[in-house]
Amino acid sequence: MCGIVGYIGPEDALEVIISGLEKLEYRGYDSAGVALIEQDNSVNIIRSVGKLSELKKEVKKRDNDAHAHLGIGHTRWATHGRPSTNNAHPHRSGRVSLIHNGIIENYLELREELQAEGYEFLSETDTEIAAHLLHRELERGSEPFDALKSTCSHIRGSYAFVALDSEHPDRLLVAKNATPIVIGQDETQVIVASDIPAVLNYTREVLFLEDGDCAELSIGGIRVENSGKAIEREVQRIAWDPVTAQKGGYKHYMLKEIHDQAQVIAETFRGRIQQEKSSIVLPELEWEQREIESIERIVLVACGTAWHACLTAKFYIEQLAKIPCEVDYASEFRYREPVLDEKTLVMAISQSGETADTLAALDLAQKAGSPTFAVCNVLGSSIARKVDRVLFTHAGPEISVASTKAFTTQLTAVYILAMYLAEQRGALTSSELQEHIGSLIHLPGVIEQAVKGDEQIRRISREYYTASDFLYLGRGNCYPIALEGALKLKEISYIHAEGYPAGEMKHGPIALIDEKMPVVVVLQKSDIQFEKTLSNLREVESRRGRIIAVTDDQGRSELSEVCEEIIEVPFLSGWLSPIVLTIPLQLLAYHIAVMNGTDVDLPRNLAKSVTVE
Ligand code: M6R
Repeated sequence: MCGIVGYIGPEDALEVIISGLEKLEYRGYDSAGVALIEQDNSVNIIRSVGKLSELKKEVKKRDNDAHAHLGIGHTRWATHGRPSTNNAHPHRSGRVSLIHNGIIENYLELREELQAEGYEFLSETDTEIAAHLLHRELERGSEPFDALKSTCSHIRGSYAFVALDSEHPDRLLVAKNATPIVIGQDETQVIVASDIPAVLNYTREVLFLEDGDCAELSIGGIRVENSGKAIEREVQRIAWDPVTAQKGGYKHYMLKEIHDQAQVIAETFRGRIQQEKSSIVLPELEWEQREIESIERIVLVACGTAWHACLTAKFYIEQLAKIPCEVDYASEFRYREPVLDEKTLVMAISQSGETADTLAALDLAQKAGSPTFAVCNVLGSSIARKVDRVLFTHAGPEISVASTKAFTTQLTAVYILAMYLAEQRGALTSSELQEHIGSLIHLPGVIEQAVKGDEQIRRISREYYTASDFLYLGRGNCYPIALEGALKLKEISYIHAEGYPAGEMKHGPIALIDEKMPVVVVLQKSDIQFEKTLSNLREVESRRGRIIAVTDDQGRSELSEVCEEIIEVPFLSGWLSPIVLTIPLQLLAYHIAVMNGTDVDLPRNLAKSVTVE
């Protein structure tokens, strides 16, 4: 969850590190710190509690003429030990300064061992152990790289470490196990980080370390070893534009990312549909028809917003490809001995590709002999590298903690996948496929129009932003969208919100309805569902509930009889309604959060990538 940056090169290391950490702040933000090797080879550690802005105030106190060319920096999301200056990284043990993302599982036994040897602990963190272990190995006379390897051999758990040794001020030591590390390099500099946006300003040529890798970075080269063997990790070119990772003039990343959606959805299907041949082409999957035909069931696993995408994926895949699907929270699936076999495809959905529970669920599936698949945004991420096949969403970097474009591109990707599976298994005729493709290509334009409803949604938000509870209702394909709308509101505005299938309302939640609780209903233009949901709305209205309808069925007079507000978006197709109807819910959550004065992009207690359990 934490953000990591390390730099060696001609630039001012402090500036590079702070600017990298700014781009990673979404990973964790209860404290931050840097360690710099100053011109006289002394190590300067500066740490502070709170957001990066606090660290920036602290570093201003540093000597103005100081100019370091090697350093490491960290933004922390507390796991072991409360947020405090002492618990902030980097941690120091004599000549060693070290930053860490992950959890050291055997830290108590290691701590006792090190304390018995005379090491003093200044923090409550598990990380400090790694600094002391590395120091111990160096003091025993090991070369830095050997000392790092030996340190890692003592540690159980997940980690990405970056360390510096003041006696070797020309290199950084890096190790990775179960949490991501990306390294960018050119002839003059090398930068290491926990995520791509931090390196993009310096280079687009990167390599990703694999689990068990230890690396030594210097201007001269990158040395990597795994299990005692020298390894060359493949250099990949990242297509993301550094500007894409910035706010682009919007007040918040979240708003920018909402506006990005028309464009990135087009990226999701670009090159994957052949309109003239009425066909879906996914050559990157290298999936033989025989293998596709052998799938008897699909189990979808994910967390949070991505779990909502799984619910929609179930609709698409079952209805189009006729393959039975189950949806599970990854955190539940991994511990409940699910029934799996080689005919069950286990499919994960994940924006970051680093979510610990989703990774563990895939691990379980692989051990049970099930084929694995992922719908993922981040190239080179742990999940993308783990699975047999991956379909990238191409949403570009999503910086805001609250997922927006990641979700709608996930829905677009699973829709394409469902059509592909249907085509390969002969479950869709060519003319049916033509119809699906025909509407999909208009999706970016319709999303663009939906985003233009922003002004109306801002006005509605002003009416409702003081409410303390919201209920979200939807049926069928729109039920996952109601869940997603409720999650968005709750995570960024801290207002309690619940999503329910509209038909379930009378089995409990109806007791909550009164004039104080706004009810947001997501209605798609589909006759049966529309009529049924409308009856549920009459039940709300007769109990003085205040209804905000979000619909793609424009101009329905019955709605104006029961609703206080109606937000209309254009209708494209019943299949695509969930994607289009998501947009007003994102904007509603956004404006309500802004009006409540919360930190929209960095909501309290949340982190973008949940790489711990
Ligand atoms: O990176 P992932 O898609 O695996 O992340 C899963 C969830 O942690 C994520 O969707 C989370 O719920 C977001 N905060 C939602 O906005």
